[in-house]
Amino acid sequence: MPNPIVVLKFGSSVLESHNDLPAAVLEIYREIRRGRRVVAVVSAFGERTDELLSSARNLFEKPDPSCLARLLETGEAEAAATLGLALDQAGVPAQVLDAGQIGLTTSEEFLDAEPLDFDIVRIHQKLLDTPVVVIPGFSGKLKNGAPALLGRGGSDLTALFLSRGLRAAECRLLKDVEGLLHVDSNGQLDHQTLYSRASYEDCLRVGGPLIQPKAVEFAARHNLRFRIARCGGSGGTQAGNFETRFETIEPNPRPTKVALGGLGTVGLGVFRWLKKLPLEFEVVGILVNDSQRQREVDVPASLLVSSVDELLSVNAELVIETIGGTGAASDLVNGARAAGCQVVSANKQLLALDPQLCQAVSQSDESLLAAASIGGSVPVLETIGTLTQRENIMAVRGIINGTCNFILDHVNAGLPFEEALQLAQDEGLAEADPHLDISGLDCVYKLALLASRAFGEVISVDQVSCQGIDQITDELLHQAYESDGQIKLVARARRTSDGIEARVGLEILDAHDLLFDCQLEANRLVVETEGHQQVVVNGTGAGRWPTTVAVVADAWQSRRFALKNSSQQENHLKAAGM
Ligand code: NDP
Ligand code: HSE
Repeated sequence: MPNPIVVLKFGSSVLESHNDLPAAVLEIYREIRRGRRVVAVVSAFGERTDELLSSARNLFEKPDPSCLARLLETGEAEAAATLGLALDQAGVPAQVLDAGQIGLTTSEEFLDAEPLDFDIVRIHQKLLDTPVVVIPGFSGKLKNGAPALLGRGGSDLTALFLSRGLRAAECRLLKDVEGLLHVDSNGQLDHQTLYSRASYEDCLRVGGPLIQPKAVEFAARHNLRFRIARCGGSGGTQAGNFETRFETIEPNPRPTKVALGGLGTVGLGVFRWLKKLPLEFEVVGILVNDSQRQREVDVPASLLVSSVDELLSVNAELVIETIGGTGAASDLVNGARAAGCQVVSANKQLLALDPQLCQAVSQSDESLLAAASIGGSVPVLETIGTLTQRENIMAVRGIINGTCNFILDHVNAGLPFEEALQLAQDEGLAEADPHLDISGLDCVYKLALLASRAFGEVISVDQVSCQGIDQITDELLHQAYESDGQIKLVARARRTSDGIEARVGLEILDAHDLLFDCQLEANRLVVETEGHQQVVVNGTGAGRWPTTVAVVADAWQSRRFALKNSSQQENHLKAAGM
């Protein structure tokens, strides 16, 4: 069974500028982590459509509608291509398609057309190649191939139209509010009262500029449910053939105070993304090794501290650890947990070597999230977590060190080992101590962690046998060459009648192997379940941005968890009359 599809529509209020791209990437990535495939429909950035429209109207007395349609659709095309670039940088496999490629045809009007048809099979095929496709909303094609627009706000209609054809599990229209808000008797928005369920009539009556009326009418005609929500939010409004229901919400929950450990390859990326999410996060301190060193211009010196105790005293609610190693990182993670803070860590070495932390990871403990510790942007722990809820996992096998895969590919192409290693370091892929990569130890830590979650018991690093790429021999290279095979560093673990068997080692793979074409810093994991299901996850396994997306996605998950807990506590207190 292929993974369910979700259609996400990013409106101009969500993508106001390039600064909002991380929020959109994270919303898409959140679905990938849940094992869904995503069709992302985008509107033009911010006021782009209005700017294009007014420039055409200022320059020309009666702009020709066909040329106007051609001009206006460039806004959505620009946004779709830019989101595609942002996903690529974050290591989230995606393709950008346009209305022509998906065969989206419309009625014969240039500026306010009705969508008629699209190539459902084509989109399904594309979603077999990558779990995400990005499509510019608002436009389609006339019979003669010329562009036609679906009316102002028409990206909502594109999203609902595609969702219906694809039988998507969900269509979520992302806006800059929590959902459809109640309008009081004076016609003012009541920011504390959300429609948790809204009828189509409610949407038409109070949806105003939030949703395109034509899109709501389309949904009503086809009895199609959809959601209106904020990026990173939980729930929002479910719209459909429902009886109206309201829910009291905290209108503007304050940002989560974050203490960040480390400001290197990963830490600086995380800091920059958190700064682009000011409603959700506030960085209140950053621990570095050398707080006197000149930093990048966007890092305020006032935030820098040089001891774990100083960072733990900044009263953060969430500690993010991107230091590495088992010294200061251990003091920070364990100190934060002892103080009741939520923790996000990218440090597989620490998590695998500390039995209590490894146990927390194996049990999917929400107070310690560690997605970035394995696979960069590849949702390794999440996929395993979802599968184990359904059935037992029998075996895992994969390429889980980007540096080694990158070096092996370059060595295969004729580059000397040392030069390939230097290149991996320059790209920010390697560990601070690259011996951890090439000796195979980094893979051992990751395999111990992921096997612990897969098999529901702590697998210690001593249980994993290890061979690194530093043990590659001319003989092995020759054998691979002779057999047209690829040498890969493969991590594998499986259940046996004697317990769990786990090893990291060099293997020659043939062209039929699912791991054969995993290239450069990509990672790939194949999971086999008791019911003989084979699940493959892919993506970029190392580097600043693929790791940042995993860390910040964890931070956002942690925030949602904390907000849900605090609202549940408040409800209990209210119920107890306190
Ligand atoms: P870097 O070496 O680039 O950055 C480490 C940061 O931690 C630096 O800012 C450094 O300070 C600070 N630091 C180091 N030691 C201490 C200390 N004793 N006290 C306080 N601060 C300290 O590492 P990366 O960003 O590459 O990696 C960080 C973590 O993320 C590691 O656990 C790594 O395994 C993991 N990871 C890395 C990935 C990658 O692709 N690079 C991918 C996935 C996980 P200063 O700036 O002063 O030197
Ligand atoms: N050095 C690690 C790698 C970083 O190359 O895979 C990602 O965990």
